Amino acid sequence: MGKQWIAILDYGSQYTQLIARRIREMEVYSEIIRCDTTAEELKKNPPAGIILSGGPNSVFEDSAPTVDTAIFSMGLPVLGICYGMQLMSHKLGGKVVPGTEREYGKMPIEIMPGNPLFEGIPSTITVWMSHGDRVEAIPGSFERGAVSATCPFAAMYDNAKRFYALQFHPEVVHTQFGTDILRNYVFGICNCVADWKLSSWVEDTVAKMKAQVGDDEVVLGLSGGVDSSVTAVLLNKAIGKRLHCIFVDNGLLRYHEAEQVEEMFHKNLGLDLTVVHAAERFYEALKGLDNPEDKRKTIGKLFIDVFAEEARRFRHCRYLAQGTIYPDVIESRSPRKGPSQTIKSHHNVGGLPPDLKFELVEPLKELFKDEVRGVGRVLGMADELLDRQPFPGPGLGVRILGEVTAEKVRLLQQADLRVQEEIRKLPDYKTIWQTFAVLLPVKSVGVMGDQRTYEYTCAIRSVNSIDAMTADWTRIPYDVLARMSNRIINEVRGINRVVYDISSKPPSTIEWE
Ligand code: XMP
Repeated sequence: MGKQWIAILDYGSQYTQLIARRIREMEVYSEIIRCDTTAEELKKNPPAGIILSGGPNSVFEDSAPTVDTAIFSMGLPVLGICYGMQLMSHKLGGKVVPGTEREYGKMPIEIMPGNPLFEGIPSTITVWMSHGDRVEAIPGSFERGAVSATCPFAAMYDNAKRFYALQFHPEVVHTQFGTDILRNYVFGICNCVADWKLSSWVEDTVAKMKAQVGDDEVVLGLSGGVDSSVTAVLLNKAIGKRLHCIFVDNGLLRYHEAEQVEEMFHKNLGLDLTVVHAAERFYEALKGLDNPEDKRKTIGKLFIDVFAEEARRFRHCRYLAQGTIYPDVIESRSPRKGPSQTIKSHHNVGGLPPDLKFELVEPLKELFKDEVRGVGRVLGMADELLDRQPFPGPGLGVRILGEVTAEKVRLLQQADLRVQEEIRKLPDYKTIWQTFAVLLPVKSVGVMGDQRTYEYTCAIRSVNSIDAMTADWTRIPYDVLARMSNRIINEVRGINRVVYDISSKPPSTIEWE
């Protein structure tokens, strides 16, 4: 890598990603690495500073993650946060005691003078605490940095060795001056300079892609989503016509989506794009299926089959490009990741058959979602594409409840189009996570002119969310809901009733199947 960076050893806190984000927002590169990374490994590409993150464990547990103590002899500044502080204390000669109860929430602390980490910070601030154990005695060379009503050592430091530790979380917004504290660490203590810019990232990455791919060719599955689209445009810049994109039209896409993808990527951007028209195959496979998991699995498996058939035409390509982004990478290696229950099986890029052996190219794998959007902007991609809402891999297949047919897809596309057109008019449209229509297998009686109707019901779903793990239904203004409903009922023949979904996640999910 060779560039200046801050290493974050990941002990599994839900806030670890936030630490990396905050530092990158300061234009300093930061990366989350495994907590068992050794000093030897770090020496290969030494960071400017090391942060030990928080985590759910207790240092007393036999299986608790630990730290290679040689890291403390590297001469580098170390910042321990929460579990990171307890670990430092435990390893460097202090005393940690198990807490009788968890301290969780906002807490005032009093800061002692003389600690460069708190330079320019008022002496009393409110911080976010989330811990069970606490440090009862600090290691000999350390000084007390802050105190709270329940925590004799809310912070500790050893200036000579440049070791700092906080019992609270400076990375969460509830900690007053939290960003300033991290800023003090990054610039004041680690002496970093702000040089991590997306424009230079794009240049570096294009050069790296050129070097990695050489004279070989690359095949890429384009989904129309942000990540694969940005990957395609980036690779196009690096290797042009040696990139071959495959887009599978599974017949479960939004209205005119396949045409729009073709227009944008082939006509406007000049990418080599193959659109595989496979709608009929998907409808055939979905015939008679009404169980949500069966539908998801069928769509997922057929997608792989169709993609693989097409990819075989590109067997001569050495590489397969994927739009993997940083949160996908961290998710799969965090120590906190356990066998969580499968609520819905997600397919996306499943495994390709063994005869298709590609090496992977994943240029976005060190970026967060909003950085990916930033890269898209640097590359001149349209906001309309970059600000797209998430769309599930199985598409309308999980928004048509019960059996999927071509006719129902047409109905739902028409209803959804009207929902999209109306919601986009809201000034705060960008703050909404997702808005879409769902077709229910429920027919009810209505009246149109003098005619009795007996037609389908459409539900509108709109949610606000940070990460899709939890979500609340959007308070869409009534007049907007009224316009959506009027337009759907008047303009879409086959739907005579519209309802609004007011369930949050949990206990509901965002998609209906
Ligand atoms: P749920 O319905 O589980 O959805 O609350 C959470 C988020 O994930 C999206 N979603 C999917 N995304 N492949 C995807 O790429 C899938 O199979 C899939 N299923 C759901 C959903 O749209 C929401 O944003």
